[in-house]
Amino acid sequence: MKKLHIKTWGCQMNVYDSARMADVVTPLGYAPTDEMAEADLVIFNTCHIREKATEKLFSELGRAREHQEARAAVGERMLIAVAGCVAQAEGPEIQRRAPYVDMVFGPQTYHQLPEMIARVTRRAGRVLNTDFPAEAKFDHLPLEQAVSGVSAFLSVQEGCDKFCSFCVVPYTRGAEYSRPVAAIVAEAERLAGQGAREITLLGQNVNAYHGEDAGGATCGLGGLLRRLAEVPGVLRWRYTTSHPRDMDDDLIAAHRDIPHLMPFLHLPVQSGSDAILAAMNRKHSADDYRGLVERLRAARPDMGFSSDFIVGFPGETDADFQATLRLVRDVGFAQAYSFKYSRRPGTPAAAMPQQVDEAVMDARLAELQALLREQQDGFNQACVGRTMPVLFDGTSRRDGHVFGRTPFMQAIHVPGPERLIGHALPVEVVEAGTNSLQGRVAANVPEAVI
Ligand code: SAH
Ligand code: SF4
Ligand code: F3S
Repeated sequence: MKKLHIKTWGCQMNVYDSARMADVVTPLGYAPTDEMAEADLVIFNTCHIREKATEKLFSELGRAREHQEARAAVGERMLIAVAGCVAQAEGPEIQRRAPYVDMVFGPQTYHQLPEMIARVTRRAGRVLNTDFPAEAKFDHLPLEQAVSGVSAFLSVQEGCDKFCSFCVVPYTRGAEYSRPVAAIVAEAERLAGQGAREITLLGQNVNAYHGEDAGGATCGLGGLLRRLAEVPGVLRWRYTTSHPRDMDDDLIAAHRDIPHLMPFLHLPVQSGSDAILAAMNRKHSADDYRGLVERLRAARPDMGFSSDFIVGFPGETDADFQATLRLVRDVGFAQAYSFKYSRRPGTPAAAMPQQVDEAVMDARLAELQALLREQQDGFNQACVGRTMPVLFDGTSRRDGHVFGRTPFMQAIHVPGPERLIGHALPVEVVEAGTNSLQGRVAANVPEAVI
């Protein structure tokens, strides 16, 4: 057996892609290893979203090169590949700075890994493969191997046509593409058959999904979820990441109609200032977002929200930032991610005047994060005393406990045996911190079940 080591950065789409890359090379005799030193093939699946994410690649490559040289000294070959969004955006630069990298390929070409490996092992030169091939990569991927856990990812949509002015994704992932309904249902059934109890549908713009259904008509994400809700064995459905503009009536109604669709939504707003939202090319206002939250809460009253925020977008004034804080207070988030604006070469925002001072960004980020932490803490505290279904998906670092997730994605530790993993039980929340909860299986659950 040959050994494969994959290191993944970035979003869940990259996590999904890494698993599929492993599937693609399994028939070539590669089995996964956690040790880079012993790998015959090392793949770095990279993220280009912010500058920091990109820097990490080059420091890791240096480490890989040492292993490659050590192996060469004993007559063995270690192939090094750079995949993902940095590869797509900076392929030639990677080859220039790191000539020992054998293969550079983007998110849309990894199904061609066997051909690429054959080429480099024949020493026919290095490979740079960053086209956006017309054929859909999904049609050329082997069936997925055993799922690693109770919770699985399923990519239903790729790419982005939104062109937010700060963002590299439309350039690294290419145009929007939606997989047909039948292929998604078949993959969901296989995942369920292998033990997945929670499936998260993935897409850079997942709610822009518009796949073809069996009759040849176009189906939106609401329709897809209704179809998927019939797949036996899956207790929970989620989807990420959504754009406010694509949250249509049918999808909102799906939250009312499908009990297995979790009442928790990651819906990035980025800013609460209309001027900044316009400059970001988001094409929605802060009040549009407030309205959406209201409609979703009307459809599903216990809905919890999460978001992404960028502080220090070019031209952001104090008043703009205050508008963001106001929006946060109005909505009340269960959880959120926030970032300092990172200037990405080639994006329209990188060329905008009035780039914001680093110190100002630091101060705004700290203030926003303090408010978001307070809200997260409040949301968690409000759960104490409530009983909610918990899906157990792993052992806890606390002795004699199992680890699970609430419908709102909160991490929760519960005393109980490992055999609860893969099951969902009602759990009473007894204690809450900012990052996790502590609970106990509800009193009315028969002893024999626990
Ligand atoms: N498709 C999703 C998110 C994609 S990237 C959406 O539309 O929301 C994930 C998050 O990274 C974004 O929501 C944004 O908050 C952040 N991000 C993207 N580009 C960035 C940049 N140049 N600087 C800082 N944060 C950025
Ligand atoms: Fe980037 Fe905007 Fe597309 Fe999200 S919607 S991936 S932020 S361009
Ligand atoms: Fe990063 Fe590419 Fe995802 S840039 S966030 S890995 S789509």
